[in-house]
Amino acid sequence: MEKATQPRAFYGSFFHTPEYGSFEYLERALIEVGEDGAIERVIAHDDPNQAAALAKVREAGTLYELGEGRFGLPGFVDIHIHSPQWPQAALALDEPLYRWLDERTFPLESKFADVDFAKKVYSDLVDQLLARGSTTAVYLGSAHLEATVALAEICAERGQRTLVGKTVMDDPKANPDYYRDASPEQAVRDTETLIREVEAIGRKSRAGAWPVITPRFIPSCTDEVLRGLGNLAESTGAYVQTHCNEGQWEHDVVLERFGKTDPYALRDFGLLREHSIMAHCPYLTEEEGEMFAELGVAVAHCPTANSYFSSAVAPVQRFRSQGIHVGLGTDISGGYSPSMYENIRQAVLVSRLLETGVNAQLPPEERGGLGEGTRLSLVESFWLATAGGAEALGLPLATFEPGRAFDLQVIDVKRPDSDLTGFGVFDEPIDRLARILYLSTPDNVRQVFSQGVLVCDKDAR
Ligand code: GUN
Ligand code: FE
Repeated sequence: MEKATQPRAFYGSFFHTPEYGSFEYLERALIEVGEDGAIERVIAHDDPNQAAALAKVREAGTLYELGEGRFGLPGFVDIHIHSPQWPQAALALDEPLYRWLDERTFPLESKFADVDFAKKVYSDLVDQLLARGSTTAVYLGSAHLEATVALAEICAERGQRTLVGKTVMDDPKANPDYYRDASPEQAVRDTETLIREVEAIGRKSRAGAWPVITPRFIPSCTDEVLRGLGNLAESTGAYVQTHCNEGQWEHDVVLERFGKTDPYALRDFGLLREHSIMAHCPYLTEEEGEMFAELGVAVAHCPTANSYFSSAVAPVQRFRSQGIHVGLGTDISGGYSPSMYENIRQAVLVSRLLETGVNAQLPPEERGGLGEGTRLSLVESFWLATAGGAEALGLPLATFEPGRAFDLQVIDVKRPDSDLTGFGVFDEPIDRLARILYLSTPDNVRQVFSQGVLVCDKDAR
């Protein structure tokens, strides 16, 4: 989709969150982008150099103007999503996790042995994510090597930055015969192959592709495979992702098996390293949190999925104050929505319930709320979906600052079926940003650029 003349400068008004807890509104700014898609310069409107810089790129024909009524946001960083679960998004969410896995998820994921089917689903998923502004995604694939490599290729072709792992689930006692790794040795060998193949794709992908060592979660895996994957993480330095401390059932099963909780068991298998991504973690204690912060482990907060499967809300503000990296994940299909907008909203909402507790039949102090300091602001949640994800992954993304990859979503606030202008009433930058984050639909996202290149253009359809 690369245009004949690649835009190298972007003029318009942009929102981003370089710091947790506040946002910046870059009004009528000029963002200059290098050949490699990284931001070179951000020239503010009141900078005396802006007029000359604008004239120069205009003359060169490399200027892209967002236009009236349009605003730029960084591309979102979805740090936890299951690619093979896309066909069952929104289904069977009333089931407990173990039944949802056994009766729905494993039969579905097993179909990805068919690489043609996988390519069909994955092409659609990547397009749908880009159309909602997600320029970076951390995927759990199925247990199949070939389909997972195909996903990395599709992301590279379409311009989505990807971190992707073949899901490992080898325990014959925990997984059906029709869908599991043949043995711990085979699972580790397949993961080694995945690392090589995705690294090769990453070398030719403009936005980048990274392999991720991906044990599904402890209950799916034998000790042998967990040890083997931990050794592989040590020897390759590859990313690691898994589910951690998601629900009471998982918590109890791990405690009974090892006499220690999920986080310590994962640590002792060598799976907790800098930028390892642990999905969910609502049960993470203060002490476990300190260990995460020390090791540089990141939490993928998945507020929608937690409401279904965790019977709990992850205390994100506590994680942040402990110094833990936190990003946001859709967790398709434990979460129903592929949209990071939806998850930004849910993160704020569930934090309000965590603050107060929910049983109004009890006196306020007995409702189980964690009290003041617990809630997330909308701007903090926006940070989690952008800069927080970048920090979790240790990649220079998701803010409009020199040296960062230029990933942009262009929001039109005046669409026929989705007017976000508020009739001009309450029109401060925070009001505009709030309307965009709370009310926008995929139709408001008109263009998406990844690493400086146009990857989705709804106006051209
Ligand atoms: N735990 C193990 N597998 C899964 C999964 O696919 N989704 C969620 N939410 N939790 C899991
Ligand atoms: Fe998940």
